[in-house]
Amino acid sequence: MNLEELSLINIFFVVMWIMGPAYIANSVAVLTGGKFPIDQGKILSDGNRLLGDGKTWSGLIGGTLGGIAFGIILNSDKGYNTLENLTGEKFEQELWGNNPLLVFTLLSFGALFGDMSASFYKRRQNLKRGDKFALLDMYDFIFMTLLLCFIFQNSWLMSWILDSWSPLFIILFLTPILHRGVNIIGYKIGIKNEPW
Ligand code: CTP
Ligand code: MG
Repeated sequence: MNLEELSLINIFFVVMWIMGPAYIANSVAVLTGGKFPIDQGKILSDGNRLLGDGKTWSGLIGGTLGGIAFGIILNSDKGYNTLENLTGEKFEQELWGNNPLLVFTLLSFGALFGDMSASFYKRRQNLKRGDKFALLDMYDFIFMTLLLCFIFQNSWLMSWILDSWSPLFIILFLTPILHRGVNIIGYKIGIKNEPW
């Protein structure tokens, strides 16, 4: 399948597929998180925590592994069958290039590293754990994900996402909607403290 020839709705499906590990990593971190704060309680000279209790090893490791596991499922025969049924297109089982495990790791770890960088910045702005920071909270994980993939895996996959406007536009448009939607569900069923 030549990705340049996809219709807009199919670009949407493929983008969701490719970025899936990053989105899932962020959600799994909420489930496995809460134990062993990464900053070990460290307070910087501005009187605020380095990262805060919302960034823990259990979230970082659980989320990264969860994202990688999800990527492996998407990349399996069953995963490709599902995508082919959704799109009506045939894919050559190479959506993540020739080193999918590396890409899954970059996508998952990148998402959580971006989330962590945002917390660092929030603490420097005197915002407490869980305080809202509208755009940053929604986009933090996706920017670092794209950046890491771009730096370490400059494959046709990333050039597809970054060269033509539609995949990137879909990512930027859908990320806040997905992010907010998942967080509202998490809040309602009681696994997340805030709906953002
Ligand atoms: N979480 C975690 N470790 C991570 C990421 C998330 O333990 N690396 C868990 C925490 O329990 C956190 C929850 O997932 O409270 C929600 O994540 P997030 O909204 O990113 O954290 P906040 O609590 O809002 O903290 P911050 O203000 O620093 O973003
Ligand atoms: Mg938050």
